[in-house]
Amino acid sequence: MATLRDVARRAGVSIATVSYVLNGTRSVSPEVEARVREAVRALQYRPNRLARGLRRKRTHVIGLVVPDSANPFFAEIARGMEDLSFAHDHSVILCNSDGDPAKEQRYLGVLIEQQVDGIALVSAHATPAHLSMLRQRRIPFVVVDRDLPGLEADCVLADNFQGGYLATRHLLERGHRRIACIAGPSELTPSADRVRGYRRALEEAGIRPREVWVQRGDFRAESGYEAARFFLSLPAKLRPTAIFACNDLMAIGAMRAIGEAGLSIPDDIALVGFDDILLASYVIPPLTTVAQPTYEMGRMAGDLLLRRLGEPDRPPARLILPVRLVVRQST
Ligand code: RIB
Repeated sequence: MATLRDVARRAGVSIATVSYVLNGTRSVSPEVEARVREAVRALQYRPNRLARGLRRKRTHVIGLVVPDSANPFFAEIARGMEDLSFAHDHSVILCNSDGDPAKEQRYLGVLIEQQVDGIALVSAHATPAHLSMLRQRRIPFVVVDRDLPGLEADCVLADNFQGGYLATRHLLERGHRRIACIAGPSELTPSADRVRGYRRALEEAGIRPREVWVQRGDFRAESGYEAARFFLSLPAKLRPTAIFACNDLMAIGAMRAIGEAGLSIPDDIALVGFDDILLASYVIPPLTTVAQPTYEMGRMAGDLLLRRLGEPDRPPARLILPVRLVVRQST
Protein backbone atom coordinates (compact mmCIF):
# COMPACT_ATOMS: atom_id res chain seq x y z
CA MET A 1 0.00 0.00 0.00
CA ALA A 2 1.45 3.36 -1.03
CA THR A 3 2.47 5.62 1.84
CA LEU A 4 2.60 9.40 2.22
CA ARG A 5 6.35 9.14 1.62
CA ASP A 6 5.81 7.27 -1.68
CA VAL A 7 3.46 10.01 -2.89
CA ALA A 8 5.96 12.71 -1.86
CA ARG A 9 8.82 10.94 -3.61
CA ARG A 10 6.84 10.45 -6.85
CA ALA A 11 5.61 14.08 -6.83
CA GLY A 12 9.08 15.35 -5.96
CA VAL A 13 7.85 17.28 -2.92
CA SER A 14 8.17 16.98 0.86
CA ILE A 15 5.84 14.88 3.00
CA ALA A 16 4.64 18.12 4.54
CA THR A 17 3.61 19.44 1.10
CA VAL A 18 1.60 16.28 0.37
CA SER A 19 -0.09 16.75 3.74
CA TYR A 20 -0.84 20.42 2.95
CA VAL A 21 -2.49 19.37 -0.35
CA LEU A 22 -4.49 16.46 1.07
CA ASN A 23 -5.59 18.31 4.21
CA GLY A 24 -5.88 21.74 2.61
CA THR A 25 -3.93 23.15 5.54
CA ARG A 26 -1.72 25.40 3.44
CA SER A 27 -1.93 26.74 -0.13
CA VAL A 28 0.60 25.43 -2.66
CA SER A 29 1.16 26.35 -6.30
CA PRO A 30 -1.29 24.83 -8.83
CA GLU A 31 1.66 23.03 -10.48
CA VAL A 32 2.68 21.39 -7.19
CA GLU A 33 -0.92 20.51 -6.35
CA ALA A 34 -1.34 18.87 -9.77
CA ARG A 35 1.84 16.81 -9.27
CA VAL A 36 0.69 15.66 -5.85
CA ARG A 37 -2.80 14.71 -7.04
CA GLU A 38 -1.33 12.85 -10.04
CA ALA A 39 0.94 10.90 -7.69
CA VAL A 40 -2.01 10.05 -5.41
CA ARG A 41 -3.99 8.75 -8.40
CA ALA A 42 -1.11 6.85 -9.94
CA LEU A 43 -0.21 5.17 -6.64
CA GLN A 44 -3.85 4.76 -5.56
CA TYR A 45 -2.80 6.28 -2.23
CA ARG A 46 -5.33 6.25 0.57
CA PRO A 47 -4.55 7.88 3.95
CA ASN A 48 -3.37 5.16 6.22
CA ARG A 49 -6.25 5.46 8.66
CA LEU A 50 -6.39 1.71 9.16
CA ALA A 51 -2.77 1.66 10.35
CA ARG A 52 -3.57 4.61 12.59
CA GLY A 53 -6.56 2.72 13.92
CA LEU A 54 -4.29 -0.24 14.65
CA ARG A 55 -1.68 1.97 16.32
CA ARG A 56 -0.72 0.92 19.82
CA LYS A 57 -3.29 1.78 22.43
CA ARG A 58 -2.54 5.13 24.05
CA THR A 59 -0.53 4.75 27.23
CA HIS A 60 -0.66 8.47 28.07
CA VAL A 61 3.06 8.24 28.80
CA ILE A 62 5.63 10.24 26.83
CA GLY A 63 9.42 10.09 26.94
CA LEU A 64 12.01 12.86 27.25
CA VAL A 65 15.70 12.14 26.50
CA VAL A 66 18.26 14.76 27.57
CA PRO A 67 22.10 14.70 27.32
CA ASP A 68 22.86 15.69 30.91
CA SER A 69 20.21 15.45 33.62
CA ALA A 70 22.63 17.13 36.08
CA ASN A 71 22.69 20.32 33.99
CA PRO A 72 20.05 22.76 35.35
CA PHE A 73 19.23 23.80 31.77
CA PHE A 74 17.82 20.37 30.95
CA ALA A 75 16.13 20.13 34.33
CA GLU A 76 14.22 23.30 33.40
CA ILE A 77 13.33 21.88 29.97
CA ALA A 78 11.98 18.81 31.76
CA ARG A 79 9.98 20.92 34.18
CA GLY A 80 8.32 22.90 31.41
CA MET A 81 7.46 19.78 29.46
CA GLU A 82 6.28 17.79 32.48
CA ASP A 83 4.09 20.60 33.80
CA LEU A 84 2.26 20.88 30.49
CA SER A 85 2.04 17.12 29.86
CA PHE A 86 0.82 16.28 33.35
CA ALA A 87 -1.84 18.98 33.08
CA HIS A 88 -2.99 17.15 29.94
CA ASP A 89 -3.12 13.75 31.66
CA HIS A 90 0.24 12.50 30.35
CA SER A 91 3.16 11.26 32.48
CA VAL A 92 6.79 11.77 31.45
CA ILE A 93 9.66 9.26 31.58
CA LEU A 94 12.98 11.16 31.78
CA CYS A 95 16.09 9.49 30.31
CA ASN A 96 19.71 10.73 30.52
CA SER A 97 21.84 9.93 27.46
CA ASP A 98 25.03 11.48 28.92
CA GLY A 99 25.56 13.01 25.48
CA ASP A 100 26.41 9.49 24.27
CA PRO A 101 24.71 8.58 20.94
CA ALA A 102 24.87 4.85 21.75
CA LYS A 103 23.24 5.37 25.14
CA GLU A 104 20.62 7.62 23.51
CA GLN A 105 19.84 4.85 21.03
CA ARG A 106 19.39 2.41 23.91
CA TYR A 107 17.02 4.70 25.71
CA LEU A 108 14.97 5.25 22.55
CA GLY A 109 14.62 1.47 22.43
CA VAL A 110 13.56 1.35 26.09
CA LEU A 111 10.91 4.01 25.48
CA ILE A 112 9.61 2.10 22.44
CA GLU A 113 9.36 -1.07 24.53
CA GLN A 114 7.49 0.92 27.16
CA GLN A 115 5.07 1.83 24.37
CA VAL A 116 5.26 5.56 25.06
CA ASP A 117 2.86 7.59 22.93
CA GLY A 118 5.63 9.95 21.81
CA ILE A 119 9.18 11.17 22.52
CA ALA A 120 10.81 14.58 23.00
CA LEU A 121 14.51 14.44 22.25
CA VAL A 122 17.46 16.73 23.00
CA SER A 123 19.72 14.83 20.66
CA ALA A 124 23.25 13.70 21.42
CA HIS A 125 23.65 12.96 17.70
CA ALA A 126 24.58 15.55 15.12
CA THR A 127 22.50 13.89 12.36
CA PRO A 128 18.87 12.65 12.15
CA ALA A 129 19.79 9.14 10.90
CA HIS A 130 19.03 7.58 14.28
CA LEU A 131 15.47 8.90 14.17
CA SER A 132 14.55 6.40 11.44
CA MET A 133 13.73 3.84 14.14
CA LEU A 134 11.04 6.20 15.40
CA ARG A 135 9.73 6.97 11.93
CA GLN A 136 9.54 3.27 10.99
CA ARG A 137 7.44 2.63 14.08
CA ARG A 138 5.43 5.78 13.44
CA ILE A 139 6.26 7.06 16.91
CA PRO A 140 5.60 10.80 17.10
CA PHE A 141 8.61 12.81 18.26
CA VAL A 142 9.72 16.40 18.71
CA VAL A 143 13.33 17.65 18.63
CA VAL A 144 14.28 20.21 21.28
CA ASP A 145 17.22 22.63 21.58
CA ARG A 146 19.52 20.91 19.07
CA ASP A 147 18.60 21.17 15.43
CA LEU A 148 19.39 18.23 13.13
CA PRO A 149 20.22 19.21 9.56
CA GLY A 150 17.71 18.03 6.96
CA LEU A 151 15.23 16.96 9.59
CA GLU A 152 11.52 17.18 8.71
CA ALA A 153 9.99 17.08 12.18
CA ASP A 154 8.55 19.26 14.91
CA CYS A 155 11.33 21.18 16.62
CA VAL A 156 11.67 23.82 19.32
CA LEU A 157 14.94 25.76 19.22
CA ALA A 158 16.39 29.00 20.56
CA ASP A 159 17.97 31.67 18.36
CA ASN A 160 21.53 30.65 19.20
CA PHE A 161 23.22 32.71 16.50
CA GLN A 162 21.57 35.88 17.84
CA GLY A 163 22.58 34.93 21.37
CA GLY A 164 26.26 34.57 20.47
CA TYR A 165 26.09 37.84 18.57
CA LEU A 166 24.45 39.75 21.46
CA ALA A 167 26.93 38.40 24.02
CA THR A 168 29.94 39.44 21.94
CA ARG A 169 28.54 42.79 20.91
CA HIS A 170 27.91 43.55 24.58
CA LEU A 171 31.60 42.90 25.35
CA LEU A 172 32.63 45.09 22.40
CA GLU A 173 30.41 47.87 23.74
CA ARG A 174 32.22 47.48 27.06
CA GLY A 175 35.43 48.33 25.14
CA HIS A 176 36.91 44.83 24.83
CA ARG A 177 38.85 43.88 21.71
CA ARG A 178 40.58 40.66 22.73
CA ILE A 179 37.49 38.51 23.29
CA ALA A 180 37.80 34.73 23.65
CA CYS A 181 35.09 32.10 23.29
CA ILE A 182 34.64 28.81 25.14
CA ALA A 183 32.62 26.75 22.67
CA GLY A 184 30.50 23.69 23.37
CA PRO A 185 30.72 20.47 21.31
CA SER A 186 31.26 21.87 17.81
CA GLU A 187 29.14 19.20 16.08
CA LEU A 188 26.03 20.37 17.96
CA THR A 189 24.08 23.23 16.42
CA PRO A 190 23.59 25.33 19.59
CA SER A 191 27.33 25.73 20.04
CA ALA A 192 28.14 26.08 16.34
CA ASP A 193 25.50 28.80 15.94
CA ARG A 194 26.66 30.69 19.04
CA VAL A 195 30.24 30.67 17.79
CA ARG A 196 29.03 31.94 14.39
CA GLY A 197 27.30 34.83 16.18
CA TYR A 198 30.51 35.53 18.13
CA ARG A 199 32.57 35.62 14.93
CA ARG A 200 30.04 37.84 13.14
CA ALA A 201 30.10 40.45 15.93
CA LEU A 202 33.92 40.54 15.92
CA GLU A 203 34.07 40.84 12.12
CA GLU A 204 31.53 43.68 12.17
CA ALA A 205 33.84 45.47 14.64
CA GLY A 206 36.77 44.95 12.28
CA ILE A 207 38.40 42.36 14.54
CA ARG A 208 39.87 39.23 12.98
CA PRO A 209 38.82 36.30 15.26
CA ARG A 210 42.07 34.52 16.27
CA GLU A 211 41.72 30.74 16.29
CA VAL A 212 43.61 30.68 19.60
CA TRP A 213 40.72 32.61 21.11
CA VAL A 214 38.22 29.81 20.48
CA GLN A 215 38.62 26.77 22.73
CA ARG A 216 36.25 23.83 22.67
CA GLY A 217 34.50 22.66 25.87
CA ASP A 218 31.81 20.06 26.51
CA PHE A 219 29.18 22.25 28.20
CA ARG A 220 30.42 21.09 31.63
CA ALA A 221 32.09 23.32 34.25
CA GLU A 222 35.45 21.49 34.18
CA SER A 223 35.94 22.23 30.49
CA GLY A 224 35.26 25.92 31.12
CA TYR A 225 37.89 25.89 33.89
CA GLU A 226 40.49 24.31 31.59
CA ALA A 227 39.72 26.65 28.69
CA ALA A 228 40.06 29.73 30.91
CA ARG A 229 43.40 28.44 32.26
CA PHE A 230 44.56 28.16 28.65
CA PHE A 231 43.48 31.71 27.83
CA LEU A 232 45.28 33.03 30.93
CA SER A 233 48.47 31.28 29.84
CA LEU A 234 48.61 33.21 26.54
CA PRO A 235 51.27 35.92 26.02
CA ALA A 236 50.07 39.32 27.25
CA LYS A 237 49.38 40.74 23.76
CA LEU A 238 47.15 37.74 22.95
CA ARG A 239 45.57 37.23 26.36
CA PRO A 240 41.83 38.04 26.24
CA THR A 241 40.29 40.73 28.45
CA ALA A 242 36.87 39.11 28.03
CA ILE A 243 35.45 35.59 27.61
CA PHE A 244 32.14 34.49 26.08
CA ALA A 245 31.29 30.98 27.31
CA CYS A 246 28.65 29.10 25.29
CA ASN A 247 26.85 28.01 28.46
CA ASP A 248 26.68 29.05 32.11
CA LEU A 249 28.30 25.92 33.55
CA MET A 250 31.46 26.53 31.50
CA ALA A 251 31.36 30.23 32.49
CA ILE A 252 31.23 29.19 36.17
CA GLY A 253 34.18 26.87 35.58
CA ALA A 254 36.05 29.79 34.02
CA MET A 255 35.27 31.93 37.10
CA ARG A 256 37.18 29.49 39.27
CA ALA A 257 40.26 29.59 37.01
CA ILE A 258 40.18 33.40 36.92
CA GLY A 259 39.87 33.57 40.71
CA GLU A 260 42.72 31.05 41.23
CA ALA A 261 44.92 33.29 39.06
CA GLY A 262 44.26 36.17 41.46
CA LEU A 263 42.39 38.11 38.79
CA SER A 264 39.13 39.95 39.26
CA ILE A 265 35.89 39.80 37.27
CA PRO A 266 35.13 42.08 35.39
CA ASP A 267 38.12 44.38 36.00
CA ASP A 268 40.74 41.93 34.69
CA ILE A 269 38.50 39.55 32.74
CA ALA A 270 34.88 40.18 31.80
CA LEU A 271 32.70 37.11 31.46
CA VAL A 272 29.44 36.24 29.69
CA GLY A 273 27.62 32.91 29.83
CA PHE A 274 24.60 31.38 28.03
CA ASP A 275 21.35 29.79 29.34
CA ASP A 276 20.64 31.92 32.46
CA ILE A 277 20.30 28.95 34.80
CA LEU A 278 19.21 29.89 38.35
CA LEU A 279 22.83 29.75 39.60
CA ALA A 280 23.90 32.50 37.18
CA SER A 281 22.44 35.17 39.46
CA TYR A 282 23.92 33.61 42.65
CA VAL A 283 27.62 33.32 41.76
CA ILE A 284 29.91 36.20 42.77
CA PRO A 285 29.89 38.38 40.78
CA PRO A 286 26.47 37.55 39.32
CA LEU A 287 26.93 36.39 35.73
CA THR A 288 25.96 38.33 32.64
CA THR A 289 24.40 35.76 30.35
CA VAL A 290 22.12 35.11 27.40
CA ALA A 291 18.79 33.91 28.74
CA GLN A 292 17.09 31.10 26.88
CA PRO A 293 13.28 30.73 27.22
CA THR A 294 14.08 27.32 28.73
CA TYR A 295 10.90 26.54 30.63
CA GLU A 296 8.86 27.75 27.64
CA MET A 297 10.89 25.57 25.28
CA GLY A 298 9.97 22.58 27.43
CA ARG A 299 6.30 23.54 27.50
CA MET A 300 6.20 24.09 23.74
CA ALA A 301 7.90 20.77 23.14
CA GLY A 302 5.21 19.08 25.23
CA ASP A 303 2.48 21.00 23.41
CA LEU A 304 3.81 20.09 19.95
CA LEU A 305 4.13 16.45 20.92
CA LEU A 306 0.59 16.21 22.29
CA ARG A 307 -0.77 17.96 19.18
CA ARG A 308 1.14 15.46 17.03
CA LEU A 309 -0.50 12.61 18.93
CA GLY A 310 -3.88 14.01 17.95
CA GLU A 311 -2.95 14.87 14.34
CA PRO A 312 -0.21 12.48 13.13
CA ASP A 313 -0.16 13.93 9.61
CA ARG A 314 -0.07 17.60 10.53
CA PRO A 315 2.82 19.46 8.87
CA PRO A 316 5.96 19.73 11.03
CA ALA A 317 6.33 22.95 13.07
CA ARG A 318 9.74 24.62 13.38
CA LEU A 319 9.78 27.04 16.33
CA ILE A 320 12.81 29.27 16.94
CA LEU A 321 12.37 31.21 20.17
CA PRO A 322 14.12 34.53 20.88
CA VAL A 323 16.86 34.88 23.52
CA ARG A 324 17.80 37.99 25.50
CA LEU A 325 20.94 39.38 27.10
CA VAL A 326 20.78 39.69 30.91
CA VAL A 327 23.49 42.12 32.05
CA ARG A 328 24.92 41.52 35.56
CA GLN A 329 28.14 42.39 37.37
CA SER A 330 30.46 39.99 35.51
CA THR A 331 30.81 42.49 32.65
O1 RIB B 1 23.92 24.03 29.08
C1 RIB B 1 23.68 23.01 28.14
C2 RIB B 1 23.68 23.55 26.77
O2 RIB B 1 23.36 22.51 25.90
C3 RIB B 1 22.63 24.64 26.64
O3 RIB B 1 23.22 25.84 26.20
C4 RIB B 1 21.64 24.10 25.69
O4 RIB B 1 21.37 24.99 24.61
C5 RIB B 1 22.18 22.78 25.22
O5 RIB B 1 22.47 22.77 23.86
